[in-house]
Amino acid sequence: MPLVSAENMLVQARAEGYAVGQFNINNLEWTKAVLTAAEESASPVILGVSEGAGKYMGGFNTVRAMVAELMKTLEITVPVALHLDHGSYEAARQCIDVGFTSVMFDGSHYPFEENVEKTKEIVRLASQKGVSVEAEVGSIGGEEDGVTGSGEVADPEECRQIASLGITMLAAGIGNVHGKYPDNWQGLDMEVLEEIGETTNRIPLVLHGGTGIPDEMVQEAIGYGVSKINVNTEAQVAFTEAVRSYIEAGKDREGKGFDPRKLLRPGYEAIIQVVKEKMELFGSVNRASG
Ligand code: 13P
Repeated sequence: MPLVSAENMLVQARAEGYAVGQFNINNLEWTKAVLTAAEESASPVILGVSEGAGKYMGGFNTVRAMVAELMKTLEITVPVALHLDHGSYEAARQCIDVGFTSVMFDGSHYPFEENVEKTKEIVRLASQKGVSVEAEVGSIGGEEDGVTGSGEVADPEECRQIASLGITMLAAGIGNVHGKYPDNWQGLDMEVLEEIGETTNRIPLVLHGGTGIPDEMVQEAIGYGVSKINVNTEAQVAFTEAVRSYIEAGKDREGKGFDPRKLLRPGYEAIIQVVKEKMELFGSVNRASG
């Protein structure tokens, strides 16, 4: 199946009360793992690529080609969107040009009017190619790949205005942070989330910082209109721990255990496990056929 925009999968998720996972990819093994987990779970999936990860993998064009070819060789039949995560205006334009099927333009650090103007322009360019667009209001706290947010809670009125610009999905800061949550974290601001859900005309809402949010809170958020949940750190930690156990057990010193294909295998399997568990939690399993 060719790559698709995130629009249909998210509209369906919003209507039927579940969420589609965005899993960030970092390399070939990561991409294979997420695609395999999605196929085995019969779940739609969104592959997230930050600007930093895009650079690391050899540029957005290389990423698009790798994903498209892997989908053919792995015979992936579930809907897959290739999505720019927290893109600058320039990166969003570039990803639309090279064939990404979804982009996030993160204008949350601009003054609101500038965020509106730039989001509008990205929507105009994206719509010419059927590419879905995520915009952001209020910032996500913490740091991800050099993008740092102060964790400011979104203003529902600003959300309403941005949601009316023709975007596909809206990320709104509601006390969520990238990476691990601090011990004194107050939890997601469900009141604001509910208000945003009501003022934004049933647009699919996006929850960033999916790592470490308690399961019941994730499910409550889905009930208020969250239809896309981003997970990155949890897969990274699982990958690294699995590879570390392999090395600590001395397996890299047994036979040809040093072969990178053997060394990275436990990490690859750990990612599959995390992605499958999240798909269960988000309710997207067996939703691939529409
Ligand atoms: P975590 O790394 O906290 O899972 O967040 C991922 C994310 O929001 C990507 O945009």
